[in-house]
Amino acid sequence: MQATMRSVLRVASKTRAMSTAARQAQRSAESTWARNATLAGAAAGTLGATLLFASANADATRCDTVVEVSPAGAVKVTVPTASEESSKLLSVMNFSKELSAIAKVKATNPDNIAMEKFDFDYFSSLPADKQARFMDCVRTGFENPESGLGCYAMTPEDYDEFAPFFDAVCQTYHKAPASAVHVTDWDASAVGDNGVLDVTKLGLPELSMRVRVGRNLEAFNLPGAMDKDERIKFEKAMLKAFAALKANPAYGGTVYSLSPDFGNGEANPNLITAEKYNELVKKHVMFKDMDADPYLKSAGIASDWPYGRGCWQSDDKQCIIWFGEEDQLRIMCMKRGSKLNEVFDRLKGMLDTIETIDGIKFAKSEKYGYVTSCPSNLGTGMRASVHIKIPNLTKDGTEAKAVKVCKPLGLSVRGTGGEHTPIGADGTVDISPSKRLFIKERDIIAALYEGIEKLMVEEKKAR
Ligand code: ADP
Ligand code: ARG
Repeated sequence: MQATMRSVLRVASKTRAMSTAARQAQRSAESTWARNATLAGAAAGTLGATLLFASANADATRCDTVVEVSPAGAVKVTVPTASEESSKLLSVMNFSKELSAIAKVKATNPDNIAMEKFDFDYFSSLPADKQARFMDCVRTGFENPESGLGCYAMTPEDYDEFAPFFDAVCQTYHKAPASAVHVTDWDASAVGDNGVLDVTKLGLPELSMRVRVGRNLEAFNLPGAMDKDERIKFEKAMLKAFAALKANPAYGGTVYSLSPDFGNGEANPNLITAEKYNELVKKHVMFKDMDADPYLKSAGIASDWPYGRGCWQSDDKQCIIWFGEEDQLRIMCMKRGSKLNEVFDRLKGMLDTIETIDGIKFAKSEKYGYVTSCPSNLGTGMRASVHIKIPNLTKDGTEAKAVKVCKPLGLSVRGTGGEHTPIGADGTVDISPSKRLFIKERDIIAALYEGIEKLMVEEKKAR
C-alpha cells in the first residue's frame, strides 16, 4: 500500500446495490469513454454517488467497501466482493480527477505530446499499482498543460513497462519510425579536419564549450520516484565513486553538496553555504533551484529539495558531475576554447573511467540506449553546446528570430543560464543540436560545428 495512504476507512455497504451502481455507471459509459474521454466525468460522478450510498447504508456487520483517503484528499475505493469488471471500473474511478484533467488538456493543448498519446483504454487495462505509477509519469503533462512533452519516466524500467505509451511519445517527439534502434558511437576521429573541430577556422574567437550526458544507475529509481531516504542513499553511493575520481591524478576534485544532513542526525561533510551555491550557479557549475521548475515539481523530480543534490568538480574545474537533478547524474566537460573535440574527447575518457568504478552500472535500454528521466534525452543523453554572440539575430532583445533561424538547422536556442532563462544582454545565446536519440554521439558534436557555421552565415545576413 502507498505510504501516503494513512487512514483507511471501512464503510459498510450492500454489495448487490453497490455493484448495481457500478454496473449502471459502466453501462452508461460503456466503452465510449475510452474514445471520447467521458469516463473521467462519469467516474467522478459515480464515486460521489457511491460514497453517499455507502454511508447511507452503514451496516456494522458487513464491511465490503474499503475507502482510503490520502493526506492530500485523494480517495481510493475498493470492493473485494465486486466482479472483475466492476473492480476495474472502481480502480479507474480512483483517478477520476486526473482523468478529467487529462481529457481537458487533450482538448485545449493538442501540442502536449504525452496528453495526446494518453490512451484511456490502455490506462484502464493496467493493474492498479501500474496505473498509479503511470499516472505519476504523466502528471507533469496535465498539471502543466503547455508542456511540449509532458512526461518523465519514474524508473528505468518504465520505458519497457509502459512501452505502448512511451514508444508513441518517442516516435512523435523524435520523429522516428517504430523500428528505430539507438546505436552508441563516440568515435569522432573522422569528423571535421581529422577529428579536429576548430571554431577559429570559422573566424570565431574562443567560446565557452560544454558537452554533457544524462546518466542513471540501474540500481536506483529515477529521481521522480525517489524518496528522501533514497536520495541520501544515492548521494552516499556516489561519494564512493567521487572518492575514486579524487584519488585519480587526472581528476582530483571537490564535492559540493546541498543536503542539509544525511538523516538520523548524521552530518554532511560536503555541505556548502548558500553563498557558495549561488557562486557555483553563476559559474554554470551547479544547477538552478529545481523547486522553482514547475515541470520537475509536478513530476516529483524536485521533491525533497535540496536533499541528495550537489556536484563534484575536478581540480582543473573542467570536469563536473551533477547528482540529483533531472537525471541522477549529469556528467560534463566544460571549458573556454576553440576545439570542440577537446571537451567531447575528455568527456568520453571520463565516462570510461567512471564506468570502471565499483557500483556504477548505467541504466540502458536495447531500443533507446542510455535511459533518462525525460524522453527528450534518451539515447545519447547528450547536449553539446556553445555560448555564442549573435547580436544581429537578437537585436530585438529576444531569441525569437534566432529560434526561427536555428530550428531548420536542427539547433536549439537557450538563454545563458540554461533552459528557460533569458539570452544575454550582448546577444549571447546557448546553442546546441536538438537531436539526442537515434543519432551517434560523434554526429552530435559534428552537427554542433556545422550548425555554428551555418548560423554565422545567417547572423551576417541579419546585419
Ligand atoms: P542541461 O544542459 O543539462 O540540459 P541547462 O540548459 O539548464 O541544462 O544548462 C545547465 C547549465 O549549464 C546552465 O548554467 C547553463 O548556462 C550552463 N551551460 C550550458 N552550456 C554552456 C556552455 N557552452 N558554456 C557555459 N555554460 C553552459
Ligand atoms: N517537461 C517539459 C516539457 O514537456 C520540458 C521537457 C524538455 N526539457 C527537459 N529539461 N527535459 O515541456
